[in-house]
Amino acid sequence: MPRVFVSCPLPGDAVERLRGACDVVVGEPGLGVRSRAFDEHAASFDAVLALLTDAIDEALLRRAPRVRLVANMAVGVDNVDVVACRARGVTVTNTPDVLTEATADLTFALLLAAARRVVEGDALVRRGAFPGWTPTTLLGAPVFGASLGVVGLGRIGRAVARRARGFGMHVFYTQRNPLDAALERALGASFRPIDELFRACDFVTLHCPLTAETRHLVSRERLATMKPGSVLVNTSRGACVDEAALADALERAGAGVVPASGGPGAAGRDVFEREPVGGSIEAGTTRTVVVEPRLLALPNVVLTPHVGSADRRTREAMAGLAADNVLAFARGAPLVTPV
Ligand code: GLV
Repeated sequence: MPRVFVSCPLPGDAVERLRGACDVVVGEPGLGVRSRAFDEHAASFDAVLALLTDAIDEALLRRAPRVRLVANMAVGVDNVDVVACRARGVTVTNTPDVLTEATADLTFALLLAAARRVVEGDALVRRGAFPGWTPTTLLGAPVFGASLGVVGLGRIGRAVARRARGFGMHVFYTQRNPLDAALERALGASFRPIDELFRACDFVTLHCPLTAETRHLVSRERLATMKPGSVLVNTSRGACVDEAALADALERAGAGVVPASGGPGAAGRDVFEREPVGGSIEAGTTRTVVVEPRLLALPNVVLTPHVGSADRRTREAMAGLAADNVLAFARGAPLVTPV
């Protein structure tokens, strides 16, 4: 039986199914590969079922030289040094598809909340400041008929584009290689070079993986080219956006300053440049906030704690797919979703 380290208890029956075919060691919530159980038995593991908060790097692989599979319970694999894994003959799998619709749902939730100032409105009602209907209370950005720029028209980007069409939005996309015209027509999206897309769209949403090329893709310079009062949404990876530059832009917009060159007026973010690791809501411990503090003070940004895929069915499916990859590995069968 292969010996498998599972980062922490998982939703659904994934761990139970693994126990039928593997010798399973489960780490502590919030600690994962930093758990004592990993430390003590690292040399004995054949596979690791990892979360995106587990850094799987050369140093870890050196401590666990038997490992031949890293089954990441996420679609993104930027927490895994895939090159180091390849060099050591370690296969990496991820969990695509099963989280597409849930992530697109949350993207739209953030888009609507940021545009229509839902969180500000909620706070206003709660603190007893609802003035009654007025013609000018909390005026936001129009969504119906607006233009949406999708950065990365992959699985999640396409699911967002589908939702956008239901809201009467005009959808544009950018990525390294434009799609062919027939597919563009079928998806109802038109290609624009990235700088043009940022300049022209009322809303921009990011659906690209984090790579050396996409780190700070939304730079200070690019933010300044966005339409005045536009909305930036990010449910991909925090480091795709220069967080300090975004705070500067939103601070200016919040103060009513529209720089000559423009810039977003609001944003929705589910992901952050430096996300905490090691906290556990269940255990009541959270790490000190590492989100750019100025963002926390701004009313024109809606913040969620990396919950793009967090609906019950989706998280069970992600755990199930990661487990299916481990079970295929245990049987010597082809892996389900290799990267
Ligand atoms: C979540 O962010 C994922 O990559 O699955």
